[in-house]
Amino acid sequence: MPELAYQQCISPECAATFSVDQTLIACPECGHLLDVGYDWDRLEVPDRLDCLEAMWSRRHDPLCLSGVWRFHDLLPFAPREQCVTIGEGQTLLQRADAVAPYAGLQPGRLFLQYEGMNPSGSFKDNGMAAAFTHARLVGASRAACASTGNTSASLALYSAVTRLMKAVIFIGSGKIAYGKLSQALDYGALTVQIEGDFDDAMARVKEISARLGIYLVNSVNPFRLEGQKTIMFRVLEALRWEVPDWIVVPGGNLGNSSAFGKAFYELHALGLIPRMPRLAVINATGADTLFGVVEREGLRFNGGRMEEERICRYYQTMSDEGRRASTIASAIEINRPVNLTKCLRALEWCDGVVREVTDQEILDAKAQVGAGGLGCEPASAASVAGLRRLVEEGIIQRDERVVCILTGHQLKDPTATVAYHSGDREKFDQVLASRGVDEAQFGNQPVAVPNDAEAIVRAIERGS
Ligand code: F0G
Repeated sequence: MPELAYQQCISPECAATFSVDQTLIACPECGHLLDVGYDWDRLEVPDRLDCLEAMWSRRHDPLCLSGVWRFHDLLPFAPREQCVTIGEGQTLLQRADAVAPYAGLQPGRLFLQYEGMNPSGSFKDNGMAAAFTHARLVGASRAACASTGNTSASLALYSAVTRLMKAVIFIGSGKIAYGKLSQALDYGALTVQIEGDFDDAMARVKEISARLGIYLVNSVNPFRLEGQKTIMFRVLEALRWEVPDWIVVPGGNLGNSSAFGKAFYELHALGLIPRMPRLAVINATGADTLFGVVEREGLRFNGGRMEEERICRYYQTMSDEGRRASTIASAIEINRPVNLTKCLRALEWCDGVVREVTDQEILDAKAQVGAGGLGCEPASAASVAGLRRLVEEGIIQRDERVVCILTGHQLKDPTATVAYHSGDREKFDQVLASRGVDEAQFGNQPVAVPNDAEAIVRAIERGS
């Protein structure tokens, strides 16, 4: 009898399966990525998604309070009593009428899914709850990740709160925003700063964690992505279980986009949603591998029979030309996304598109999101900037219902925000102009006044 939950190679030609008791980050047979699969016929799955609402009435139970585990029926890889939660996923979907005109949508059509409300301030906690659950199942005592900052903050926080594992984090030196670095240090993680960027740190953490037997929590870990599926369940819940027309998400290591595709694919296969939404993944122009392979080179997943040599050639050219990722949106400053193939699969399932946006567009969109009341970090705003492009191009219609994912909290990266708004030329040049940003169209400069009541009153009257 096959297991109720198992790991499975995503390559249809291989499709090898492995027990959930194993700790794997790639298929041992062929090297492709792994999924968590389920024998749904033998599992108890709700007949309708609104049945899941009953969980709310039991929110004295931490698993029902968790925005991840109240959907346990849809990611049942571990028994309930093993599930780890620190109260993640209390996030909200905001109808963003203040931002809709900037994006080009009609009122009532734009929603922002605010994942900055998670305990560590980013969407990563959804995945970390699931990864920690699996780590507990396999008895791991140390966990590692490479990070542009948010995965490391999340890992450090889960380790500090649960005491289940010691955290070791790998970061590129000078590559992560201060808000995130300060979290890892404060939560007590062993922080290894590597000379190099995220792509270097990622390659190293794979090597070192295998060598030392440390549990890896990057999104190559298929259990992490199970947790991230729940972001989409909460979006559906907030929309009274109606499927939106579009989900727009920033693309870095491509874990979210992969997880979202899987979430909708499974819901559709289970007959729990009538149709799939479309997916738009947004790269920064300085870190645009996905855009390059999909939109410039026309590569497709093709049911798993894709021409992988083309990806290898793409990476080879990148190395030959010495190209490094570079964007103000440091969270997505990644040139070799580990989930590239899974993301191509999600794009196929969701009839997806990929766009790239400049740092200027990202910062302008970020200022608009902030002015709308829910701030976000630069990478998150790539979703709104990408949406604006897609509406301009006529790919997304003005009356379509669109959900942009705000992946990280506004306070994660104060340097970029202050450089944009402060009007301090030196700061602007140093942080932004060096990246091709030449104006702060929506800048909100502080007003400098002498310590004098009359001058202060005049300044307030001028400004309001
Ligand atoms: N937005 C934020 C705020 C992120 O931190 C990340 C990824 C992304 C978007 C991209 O998501 O990888 O699922 O495509 N941050 C990782 C980290 C890489 O290390 O914190 P993705």
